[in-house]
Amino acid sequence: MNGVHNMVPPGTMLEGFDWNSLRPQSNVVDVGSGIGSQSLALAETFPHLNFILQDSQATLDNALIFWKAELPEAISTGRVKMQAHNFFEAQPAEQPAVFVMRMILHDWSDQHAIKILCRLRAAAGPDTQLVVIDSILSLACTEDDIVKNIPGAAGPLPPPPLLPNLGYAGVPSYLSDISMMNAHDGVERTIVQFNKIFEESGWKISRVHRGVLGIASTITGVPA
Ligand SMILES: C[S@@+](CC[C@H](N)C(=O)[O-])C[C@H]1O[C@@H](n2cnc3c(N)ncnc32)[C@H](O)[C@@H]1O
Repeated sequence: MNGVHNMVPPGTMLEGFDWNSLRPQSNVVDVGSGIGSQSLALAETFPHLNFILQDSQATLDNALIFWKAELPEAISTGRVKMQAHNFFEAQPAEQPAVFVMRMILHDWSDQHAIKILCRLRAAAGPDTQLVVIDSILSLACTEDDIVKNIPGAAGPLPPPPLLPNLGYAGVPSYLSDISMMNAHDGVERTIVQFNKIFEESGWKISRVHRGVLGIASTITGVPA
């Protein structure tokens, strides 16, 4: 997962959410963190934030080795903590500033994704924000206008003489969609599909930042 940084332009992961807007010492909970390469980039860029990495104990054992090599002071000062946690169980980190999940929801069907999101919603405070970093699929036809009032949600139309589908069916997210389905009943989602799972788990999309070709997009949610 650390190599994902090399698949997208530098800074892509950092630009989708205004991390500077968070108060000093705010807790960012990285749910399904892996070794925490997403949080490492955030910790290096935003020194005012604290982090809790959550994954299986075996993965966090590797995370500790990774962080001791990359940013040892974050471990020694307690700025970054590790917490073994199954995201289908009750969320132990209550009312953080942010729950962030990178490339988690696309691993799971709607039924499972909604369970994960419901656990986060139950632990959220009124000001907790949910930051989901995943691909957003663009349909090769006009998207539903359900999300037209959310800033940044509407994708740009291609200039003439290109066809309205802009060759979307060939973008990497479509290939990833099929891989996710084959591998573990996962799915890359359109913004309308994200809107549905957010709504069904008590979250409301407040902002969308689309990455190039929809990859590494950021969908921010607030408690509904
Ligand atoms: C595709 S990786 C993403 C890792 C990380 N978010 C990143 O972007 O680098 C999915 C992660 O979810 C974790 N995971 C899978 N099932 C989990 C569960 N039930 N509870 C917590 N973590 C889980 C895996 O161990 C893995 O680290």
